[in-house]
Amino acid sequence: MTHYERAVQRKLDELKRKPHVRILAIETSCDETAAAVVADGRTVLSNAVHTQIPLHAPFGGVVPEIASRSHVQKIGAVVRLALGEAGLTLNELDAVAVTSGPGLVGALLVGLSYAKGLAYAAGLPFLGVHHIAAHIAANYLSYPALTPPFTCLVASGGHSHIIVVEDYDRYRLIGRTRDDAAGEAFDKVARVLGLPYPGGPNLEQLAMQGDPTRYRFRSAFNEGEGLDFSFSGIKTAVVNRLHNAEQAGEAVNRADLAASFQKTVVDILAEKSVRAAKAQSGEAGTKLALAGGVSANRALREAMEARAKRAGIAFYCPAFEYCTDNAAMVASAAYGRLLQGRTDALSLNAAPYLSIEER
Ligand code: KG4
Ligand code: ZN
Repeated sequence: MTHYERAVQRKLDELKRKPHVRILAIETSCDETAAAVVADGRTVLSNAVHTQIPLHAPFGGVVPEIASRSHVQKIGAVVRLALGEAGLTLNELDAVAVTSGPGLVGALLVGLSYAKGLAYAAGLPFLGVHHIAAHIAANYLSYPALTPPFTCLVASGGHSHIIVVEDYDRYRLIGRTRDDAAGEAFDKVARVLGLPYPGGPNLEQLAMQGDPTRYRFRSAFNEGEGLDFSFSGIKTAVVNRLHNAEQAGEAVNRADLAASFQKTVVDILAEKSVRAAKAQSGEAGTKLALAGGVSANRALREAMEARAKRAGIAFYCPAFEYCTDNAAMVASAAYGRLLQGRTDALSLNAAPYLSIEER
Protein backbone atom coordinates (compact mmCIF):
# COMPACT_ATOMS: atom_id res chain seq x y z
CA MET A 1 0.00 0.00 0.00
CA THR A 2 1.31 3.46 -0.86
CA HIS A 3 1.30 6.37 1.55
CA TYR A 4 -1.68 7.84 -0.38
CA GLU A 5 -3.67 4.60 -0.27
CA ARG A 6 -3.16 4.36 3.49
CA ALA A 7 -4.37 7.95 3.93
CA VAL A 8 -7.48 7.19 1.84
CA GLN A 9 -8.22 4.06 3.87
CA ARG A 10 -8.01 6.08 7.09
CA LYS A 11 -10.41 8.69 5.64
CA LEU A 12 -12.88 6.02 4.52
CA ASP A 13 -12.85 4.44 8.00
CA GLU A 14 -13.41 7.88 9.55
CA LEU A 15 -16.37 8.52 7.23
CA LYS A 16 -18.40 5.76 8.87
CA ARG A 17 -18.39 7.74 12.13
CA LYS A 18 -18.89 11.22 10.67
CA PRO A 19 -22.30 12.95 10.77
CA HIS A 20 -21.67 14.72 7.45
CA VAL A 21 -19.72 13.95 4.29
CA ARG A 22 -18.36 16.98 2.44
CA ILE A 23 -17.23 16.52 -1.15
CA LEU A 24 -15.39 19.01 -3.36
CA ALA A 25 -16.25 18.43 -7.02
CA ILE A 26 -14.84 19.80 -10.26
CA GLU A 27 -16.49 19.90 -13.69
CA THR A 28 -14.65 20.80 -16.92
CA SER A 29 -16.25 18.49 -19.50
CA CYS A 30 -17.29 21.23 -21.92
CA ASP A 31 -17.47 25.01 -21.70
CA GLU A 32 -17.96 25.73 -17.98
CA THR A 33 -15.16 25.63 -15.41
CA ALA A 34 -16.98 24.71 -12.21
CA ALA A 35 -16.22 23.71 -8.62
CA ALA A 36 -18.56 23.13 -5.69
CA VAL A 37 -18.69 21.74 -2.17
CA VAL A 38 -21.77 19.69 -1.24
CA ALA A 39 -22.61 18.04 2.09
CA ASP A 40 -24.24 14.60 2.07
CA GLY A 41 -25.00 14.83 -1.64
CA ARG A 42 -27.87 17.22 -0.90
CA THR A 43 -26.77 20.47 0.78
CA VAL A 44 -24.88 22.89 -1.48
CA LEU A 45 -22.24 24.77 0.53
CA SER A 46 -20.82 26.53 -2.54
CA ASN A 47 -21.28 26.40 -6.32
CA ALA A 48 -18.80 28.37 -8.46
CA VAL A 49 -19.14 28.44 -12.25
CA HIS A 50 -17.00 30.30 -14.78
CA THR A 51 -18.75 30.20 -18.14
CA GLN A 52 -16.78 30.38 -21.39
CA ILE A 53 -19.80 31.48 -23.46
CA PRO A 54 -18.24 34.85 -24.47
CA LEU A 55 -15.08 33.05 -25.65
CA HIS A 56 -16.92 30.63 -27.95
CA ALA A 57 -19.76 32.93 -29.10
CA PRO A 58 -17.80 34.46 -32.01
CA PHE A 59 -17.35 30.93 -33.45
CA GLY A 60 -21.00 29.90 -33.04
CA GLY A 61 -20.09 26.84 -30.96
CA VAL A 62 -17.55 25.38 -28.54
CA VAL A 63 -13.96 25.37 -29.85
CA PRO A 64 -12.24 22.48 -27.97
CA GLU A 65 -8.74 23.99 -27.89
CA ILE A 66 -10.03 27.31 -26.54
CA ALA A 67 -12.10 25.42 -23.94
CA SER A 68 -9.07 23.46 -22.64
CA ARG A 69 -6.89 26.55 -22.41
CA SER A 70 -9.53 28.55 -20.56
CA HIS A 71 -10.09 25.68 -18.09
CA VAL A 72 -6.33 25.69 -17.34
CA GLN A 73 -6.41 29.45 -16.75
CA LYS A 74 -9.47 29.49 -14.50
CA ILE A 75 -9.54 26.25 -12.57
CA GLY A 76 -7.31 27.38 -9.69
CA ALA A 77 -9.40 30.48 -9.01
CA VAL A 78 -12.71 28.64 -9.36
CA VAL A 79 -11.66 25.91 -6.88
CA ARG A 80 -10.39 28.54 -4.41
CA LEU A 81 -13.71 30.38 -4.74
CA ALA A 82 -15.69 27.19 -4.05
CA LEU A 83 -13.61 26.39 -0.95
CA GLY A 84 -13.76 30.01 0.22
CA GLU A 85 -17.55 30.26 -0.14
CA ALA A 86 -17.95 26.99 1.73
CA GLY A 87 -15.61 28.31 4.41
CA LEU A 88 -13.54 25.12 4.29
CA THR A 89 -9.91 24.17 3.74
CA LEU A 90 -8.78 21.10 1.79
CA ASN A 91 -8.09 19.23 5.03
CA GLU A 92 -11.70 19.62 6.16
CA LEU A 93 -13.04 17.80 3.09
CA ASP A 94 -13.93 14.11 2.91
CA ALA A 95 -13.39 13.41 -0.80
CA VAL A 96 -12.57 15.00 -4.16
CA ALA A 97 -14.70 14.22 -7.22
CA VAL A 98 -14.49 15.15 -10.89
CA THR A 99 -16.32 14.53 -14.16
CA SER A 100 -14.26 11.87 -15.95
CA GLY A 101 -16.45 11.54 -19.07
CA PRO A 102 -18.10 11.83 -21.47
CA GLY A 103 -17.04 15.21 -22.85
CA LEU A 104 -14.23 16.95 -24.71
CA VAL A 105 -11.09 14.98 -23.90
CA GLY A 106 -8.76 17.96 -23.54
CA ALA A 107 -11.25 19.76 -21.33
CA LEU A 108 -11.93 16.68 -19.18
CA LEU A 109 -8.20 16.15 -18.62
CA VAL A 110 -7.77 19.60 -17.06
CA GLY A 111 -10.34 18.92 -14.31
CA LEU A 112 -9.25 15.32 -13.90
CA SER A 113 -5.57 16.21 -13.43
CA TYR A 114 -6.38 19.06 -11.06
CA ALA A 115 -8.70 16.90 -8.94
CA LYS A 116 -6.12 14.09 -8.77
CA GLY A 117 -3.48 16.57 -7.63
CA LEU A 118 -5.74 17.84 -4.84
CA ALA A 119 -6.76 14.35 -3.74
CA TYR A 120 -3.14 13.18 -3.67
CA ALA A 121 -1.87 16.25 -1.82
CA ALA A 122 -4.60 16.10 0.84
CA GLY A 123 -4.76 12.29 1.09
CA LEU A 124 -8.46 12.26 0.17
CA PRO A 125 -10.58 9.59 -1.56
CA PHE A 126 -10.92 10.32 -5.29
CA LEU A 127 -14.01 9.71 -7.43
CA GLY A 128 -14.60 9.98 -11.17
CA VAL A 129 -18.20 10.79 -12.07
CA HIS A 130 -20.15 10.15 -15.28
CA HIS A 131 -21.46 13.45 -16.67
CA ILE A 132 -24.98 12.10 -17.21
CA ALA A 133 -25.07 10.62 -13.71
CA ALA A 134 -24.18 14.11 -12.49
CA HIS A 135 -27.04 15.72 -14.45
CA ILE A 136 -29.45 13.17 -12.95
CA ALA A 137 -28.10 13.85 -9.43
CA ALA A 138 -28.93 17.58 -9.86
CA ASN A 139 -32.44 16.49 -8.86
CA TYR A 140 -31.26 15.43 -5.39
CA LEU A 141 -30.05 19.01 -4.79
CA SER A 142 -33.53 20.39 -5.43
CA TYR A 143 -35.46 17.51 -3.83
CA PRO A 144 -33.50 16.23 -0.80
CA ALA A 145 -36.20 13.61 -0.15
CA LEU A 146 -35.88 12.09 -3.65
CA THR A 147 -34.26 8.65 -3.68
CA PRO A 148 -33.90 5.96 -6.36
CA PRO A 149 -35.55 4.17 -8.03
CA PHE A 150 -37.08 6.64 -10.48
CA THR A 151 -37.32 7.21 -14.23
CA CYS A 152 -35.38 10.14 -15.73
CA LEU A 153 -35.27 11.96 -19.05
CA VAL A 154 -31.80 13.39 -19.65
CA ALA A 155 -31.76 15.99 -22.44
CA SER A 156 -28.51 17.88 -22.95
CA GLY A 157 -26.30 19.14 -25.76
CA GLY A 158 -24.61 15.79 -26.23
CA HIS A 159 -27.18 13.27 -24.96
CA SER A 160 -30.87 12.44 -24.97
CA HIS A 161 -31.66 9.37 -22.91
CA ILE A 162 -34.52 7.88 -20.95
CA ILE A 163 -32.95 6.11 -17.99
CA VAL A 164 -34.25 4.07 -15.09
CA VAL A 165 -32.19 5.10 -12.06
CA GLU A 166 -32.33 1.76 -10.25
CA ASP A 167 -30.09 2.81 -7.40
CA TYR A 168 -27.38 5.40 -6.66
CA ASP A 169 -24.84 4.61 -9.35
CA ARG A 170 -26.91 1.94 -11.13
CA TYR A 171 -28.61 2.92 -14.39
CA ARG A 172 -30.62 1.17 -17.08
CA LEU A 173 -30.95 2.88 -20.46
CA ILE A 174 -34.42 2.33 -21.95
CA GLY A 175 -34.59 5.00 -24.66
CA ARG A 176 -32.17 7.17 -26.61
CA THR A 177 -31.89 9.46 -29.59
CA ARG A 178 -31.04 7.73 -32.84
CA ASP A 179 -29.26 10.84 -34.16
CA ASP A 180 -29.03 14.38 -32.71
CA ALA A 181 -29.39 15.11 -28.99
CA ALA A 182 -32.31 17.41 -28.15
CA GLY A 183 -30.00 20.30 -27.18
CA GLU A 184 -27.99 19.81 -30.35
CA ALA A 185 -31.20 20.12 -32.42
CA PHE A 186 -32.12 23.32 -30.53
CA ASP A 187 -28.62 24.70 -31.19
CA LYS A 188 -28.65 23.83 -34.90
CA VAL A 189 -32.13 25.28 -35.53
CA ALA A 190 -31.17 28.38 -33.53
CA ARG A 191 -28.17 28.84 -35.79
CA VAL A 192 -30.24 28.74 -39.01
CA LEU A 193 -32.65 31.21 -37.42
CA GLY A 194 -29.67 33.55 -36.99
CA LEU A 195 -29.62 33.35 -33.18
CA PRO A 196 -26.33 33.60 -31.29
CA TYR A 197 -24.64 30.75 -29.39
CA PRO A 198 -25.78 29.19 -27.10
CA GLY A 199 -28.79 28.45 -29.27
CA GLY A 200 -31.15 26.64 -26.87
CA PRO A 201 -31.94 29.46 -24.44
CA ASN A 202 -32.05 32.04 -27.25
CA LEU A 203 -34.46 29.90 -29.25
CA GLU A 204 -36.66 29.56 -26.17
CA GLN A 205 -36.78 33.37 -25.84
CA LEU A 206 -37.79 33.78 -29.49
CA ALA A 207 -40.35 30.97 -29.20
CA MET A 208 -42.10 32.84 -26.38
CA GLN A 209 -43.21 35.44 -28.92
CA GLY A 210 -44.38 32.92 -31.52
CA ASP A 211 -47.39 30.73 -32.28
CA PRO A 212 -46.49 27.08 -31.62
CA THR A 213 -49.40 25.82 -33.75
CA ARG A 214 -48.44 27.79 -36.88
CA TYR A 215 -46.26 25.07 -38.46
CA ARG A 216 -46.49 21.31 -38.08
CA PHE A 217 -43.38 19.17 -38.17
CA ARG A 218 -44.54 15.55 -38.18
CA SER A 219 -42.14 12.69 -37.88
CA ALA A 220 -43.23 9.10 -38.33
CA PHE A 221 -40.37 7.67 -36.27
CA ASN A 222 -41.30 9.61 -33.16
CA GLU A 223 -44.97 8.67 -33.50
CA GLY A 224 -44.04 4.98 -33.20
CA GLU A 225 -44.39 2.80 -30.13
CA GLY A 226 -40.69 2.71 -29.21
CA LEU A 227 -38.95 4.83 -26.59
CA ASP A 228 -36.13 5.99 -28.89
CA PHE A 229 -36.40 9.40 -30.55
CA SER A 230 -34.99 11.13 -33.61
CA PHE A 231 -34.51 14.88 -33.99
CA SER A 232 -32.45 15.16 -37.13
CA GLY A 233 -35.46 14.94 -39.50
CA ILE A 234 -37.34 17.64 -37.58
CA LYS A 235 -34.31 19.92 -37.70
CA THR A 236 -34.03 19.37 -41.48
CA ALA A 237 -37.76 20.07 -41.92
CA VAL A 238 -37.37 23.44 -40.16
CA VAL A 239 -34.32 24.31 -42.27
CA ASN A 240 -36.15 23.32 -45.48
CA ARG A 241 -39.21 25.37 -44.52
CA LEU A 242 -37.02 28.41 -44.00
CA HIS A 243 -35.04 27.96 -47.23
CA ASN A 244 -38.12 27.24 -49.37
CA ALA A 245 -39.82 30.37 -48.08
CA GLU A 246 -36.69 32.44 -48.71
CA GLN A 247 -36.40 31.12 -52.26
CA ALA A 248 -40.06 31.85 -52.96
CA GLY A 249 -39.60 35.34 -51.52
CA GLU A 250 -42.20 34.66 -48.80
CA ALA A 251 -41.95 36.25 -45.38
CA VAL A 252 -41.45 33.70 -42.61
CA ASN A 253 -42.28 34.45 -39.04
CA ARG A 254 -39.12 33.28 -37.24
CA ALA A 255 -40.80 33.34 -33.84
CA ASP A 256 -43.60 31.06 -35.11
CA LEU A 257 -41.00 28.73 -36.59
CA ALA A 258 -39.05 28.65 -33.30
CA ALA A 259 -42.22 28.07 -31.26
CA SER A 260 -43.46 25.31 -33.60
CA PHE A 261 -40.08 23.55 -33.57
CA GLN A 262 -39.86 23.78 -29.79
CA LYS A 263 -43.40 22.43 -29.36
CA THR A 264 -42.64 19.47 -31.64
CA VAL A 265 -39.50 18.49 -29.68
CA VAL A 266 -41.10 19.13 -26.28
CA ASP A 267 -44.17 17.02 -27.12
CA ILE A 268 -42.02 14.08 -28.21
CA LEU A 269 -39.81 14.22 -25.11
CA ALA A 270 -42.74 14.62 -22.74
CA GLU A 271 -44.89 11.94 -24.37
CA LYS A 272 -42.10 9.32 -24.54
CA SER A 273 -40.73 9.93 -21.06
CA VAL A 274 -44.15 9.78 -19.36
CA ARG A 275 -44.95 6.62 -21.33
CA ALA A 276 -41.58 5.17 -20.28
CA ALA A 277 -42.25 5.92 -16.61
CA LYS A 278 -45.74 4.41 -16.81
CA ALA A 279 -44.28 1.19 -18.18
CA GLN A 280 -42.00 0.69 -15.15
CA SER A 281 -43.05 -1.50 -12.27
CA GLY A 282 -42.67 -0.41 -8.65
CA GLU A 283 -41.42 3.00 -7.56
CA ALA A 284 -39.75 3.83 -10.89
CA GLY A 285 -43.28 3.89 -12.33
CA THR A 286 -44.41 6.57 -9.89
CA LYS A 287 -41.58 9.13 -10.21
CA LEU A 288 -40.31 10.93 -13.31
CA ALA A 289 -37.37 13.35 -13.22
CA LEU A 290 -35.90 15.64 -15.88
CA ALA A 291 -32.20 16.51 -16.21
CA GLY A 292 -29.57 17.98 -18.56
CA GLY A 293 -29.17 21.45 -20.05
CA VAL A 294 -32.50 21.33 -21.93
CA SER A 295 -34.27 20.86 -18.57
CA ALA A 296 -33.90 24.65 -18.23
CA ASN A 297 -36.53 24.97 -20.99
CA ARG A 298 -39.79 26.15 -19.45
CA ALA A 299 -42.01 24.68 -22.14
CA LEU A 300 -40.45 21.25 -21.56
CA ARG A 301 -40.75 21.50 -17.77
CA GLU A 302 -44.39 22.54 -18.03
CA ALA A 303 -45.34 19.91 -20.62
CA MET A 304 -43.73 17.11 -18.64
CA GLU A 305 -45.25 18.24 -15.39
CA ALA A 306 -48.75 18.42 -16.93
CA ARG A 307 -48.51 15.01 -18.60
CA ALA A 308 -47.01 13.37 -15.52
CA LYS A 309 -49.78 14.82 -13.37
CA ARG A 310 -52.47 13.45 -15.71
CA ALA A 311 -50.80 10.03 -15.43
CA GLY A 312 -50.62 10.26 -11.61
CA ILE A 313 -46.81 10.37 -11.68
CA ALA A 314 -44.76 12.68 -9.43
CA PHE A 315 -42.54 15.04 -11.46
CA TYR A 316 -39.11 16.42 -10.50
CA CYS A 317 -36.79 18.87 -12.23
CA PRO A 318 -33.70 20.68 -10.93
CA ALA A 319 -33.63 24.37 -9.95
CA PHE A 320 -32.44 26.45 -12.93
CA GLU A 321 -28.88 26.90 -11.62
CA TYR A 322 -28.39 23.12 -11.54
CA CYS A 323 -29.82 22.40 -15.03
CA THR A 324 -26.80 23.34 -17.15
CA ASP A 325 -23.26 22.18 -16.36
CA ASN A 326 -22.15 22.79 -12.76
CA ALA A 327 -20.07 20.97 -10.16
CA ALA A 328 -22.66 20.73 -7.36
CA MET A 329 -24.40 17.98 -9.34
CA VAL A 330 -21.04 16.18 -9.72
CA ALA A 331 -20.55 16.23 -5.94
CA SER A 332 -24.05 14.85 -5.44
CA ALA A 333 -23.45 11.97 -7.87
CA ALA A 334 -20.07 11.28 -6.21
CA TYR A 335 -21.81 10.98 -2.84
CA GLY A 336 -24.05 8.31 -4.38
CA ARG A 337 -20.95 6.40 -5.51
CA LEU A 338 -19.33 6.77 -2.12
CA LEU A 339 -22.51 5.39 -0.48
CA GLN A 340 -22.02 2.27 -2.60
CA GLY A 341 -18.44 2.02 -1.29
CA ARG A 342 -16.88 3.06 -4.61
CA THR A 343 -13.79 5.21 -5.10
CA ASP A 344 -11.35 5.43 -8.01
CA ALA A 345 -7.61 5.01 -8.40
CA LEU A 346 -5.53 8.04 -9.37
CA SER A 347 -4.76 6.22 -12.62
CA LEU A 348 -8.37 6.87 -13.82
CA ASN A 349 -8.32 8.25 -17.35
CA ALA A 350 -10.69 10.61 -19.16
CA ALA A 351 -13.36 8.67 -21.09
CA PRO A 352 -14.79 10.92 -23.81
CA TYR A 353 -17.44 8.38 -24.97
CA LEU A 354 -18.25 6.47 -21.77
CA SER A 355 -21.73 4.90 -21.63
CA ILE A 356 -23.64 5.33 -18.36
CA GLU A 357 -24.43 1.63 -18.02
CA GLU A 358 -20.74 0.64 -18.12
CA ARG A 359 -19.73 3.10 -15.45
O1 KG4 B 1 -26.06 19.90 -20.04
P1 KG4 B 1 -25.50 21.00 -20.81
O2 KG4 B 1 -25.19 22.29 -20.10
O3 KG4 B 1 -24.19 20.53 -21.53
C1 KG4 B 1 -24.08 19.24 -22.06
O4 KG4 B 1 -23.86 18.31 -21.25
O5 KG4 B 1 -24.29 19.11 -23.28
O6 KG4 B 1 -26.52 21.26 -21.99
C2 KG4 B 1 -26.30 22.25 -22.92
C3 KG4 B 1 -27.44 22.15 -23.94
C4 KG4 B 1 -27.20 23.06 -25.12
O7 KG4 B 1 -27.52 22.34 -26.30
C5 KG4 B 1 -28.16 24.20 -24.86
O8 KG4 B 1 -28.59 24.84 -26.03
C6 KG4 B 1 -29.31 23.46 -24.20
O9 KG4 B 1 -28.67 22.54 -23.33
N1 KG4 B 1 -30.15 24.39 -23.43
C7 KG4 B 1 -31.43 24.67 -23.73
C8 KG4 B 1 -31.86 25.63 -22.78
N2 KG4 B 1 -30.83 25.90 -21.94
C9 KG4 B 1 -29.78 25.12 -22.35
N3 KG4 B 1 -32.25 24.19 -24.70
C10 KG4 B 1 -33.49 24.67 -24.75
N4 KG4 B 1 -33.98 25.60 -23.90
C11 KG4 B 1 -33.21 26.10 -22.91
N5 KG4 B 1 -33.69 27.01 -22.07
ZN1 ZN C 1 -23.99 18.68 -19.37
